[in-house]
Amino acid sequence: MIKTIKCLVVVGLLLATTHGTRAHALSLSVHPDLPEGLISYLLPRFTLKTQVRFTRLPKDGDLQFIVRDTEQSVAIFDLADGTRGYLRAASWLQDDPDYVKFKDWLLSDAGRATILDYQEAGQAVATPVDPEPEVEMPVVIVGDAAVGEALSLEHCSRCHKVDRANKYSGMDSSPSFHAMRGFDDWFVRFSSFYTVSPHKALISVQGSGISKDRDLIPIAPIDLTIEQVNDIVAFVHSLEPLDLGRPIQYNP
Ligand code: HEC
Repeated sequence: MIKTIKCLVVVGLLLATTHGTRAHALSLSVHPDLPEGLISYLLPRFTLKTQVRFTRLPKDGDLQFIVRDTEQSVAIFDLADGTRGYLRAASWLQDDPDYVKFKDWLLSDAGRATILDYQEAGQAVATPVDPEPEVEMPVVIVGDAAVGEALSLEHCSRCHKVDRANKYSGMDSSPSFHAMRGFDDWFVRFSSFYTVSPHKALISVQGSGISKDRDLIPIAPIDLTIEQVNDIVAFVHSLEPLDLGRPIQYNP
């Protein structure tokens, strides 16, 4: 009896250790119009970091560097002659963690730098393709901008410069609303400002699920409702963003 249990434990342990490790490396092939040397330069550098290995095939690999854009391909680099190199994974590999790691690495700063590093006859051979611009978040304005303006003047101008007319409001340590309106993620910031310091300590938003001990609030607390937060968001939406083509002016 004891023997059988021991035996089962050993089998279980063996299964546990082999499970999750890949029996096969991903197979990979490279289109003949793409520089073989570049791929041979990239792979070991990626493998060194991740332990993910590849088996090279002359063609029809699970992963392929190809020169045509297809549904499941991702643009990776451009050659001087205008040829673009894409990485394509077989459809059953789309969520494979090793493939995803490889693709993400190729598109990351580190991967892009490695692509640029590779030279033949003293010349870089390929330029990494610019990352796709982030999909813009749809901004849905549901509040009332006029109400939001009044609320901002009442509560926020203590620390922030809220409008340009009110030139001398605000403190130096707080960014102006115009400056923040110029951030790509202004909508997220203004929808959640009450969850970050220093607001967290003094602003309560009813219905936000965040409660605080009012005795710990050192200065006059601010109470808002979610609707009022939406009004402030609507007001900020109406502000002209600062031109952030110039270096960010934090508190103009
Ligand atoms: C007690 C001073 C004070 C008050 C009052 C205040 N803020 Fe701020 N706020 C700050 C400071 C300081 C920062 C900068 C924090 C930082 O850079 O870490 C800031 C940052 C912000 C940010 C950027 C947050 C982010 O994610 O980077 C937003 C948005 C914001 N405030 C909105 C508001 C709104 C709306 C109100 C009024 C309801 C308000 N603040 C009231 C001091 C204040």
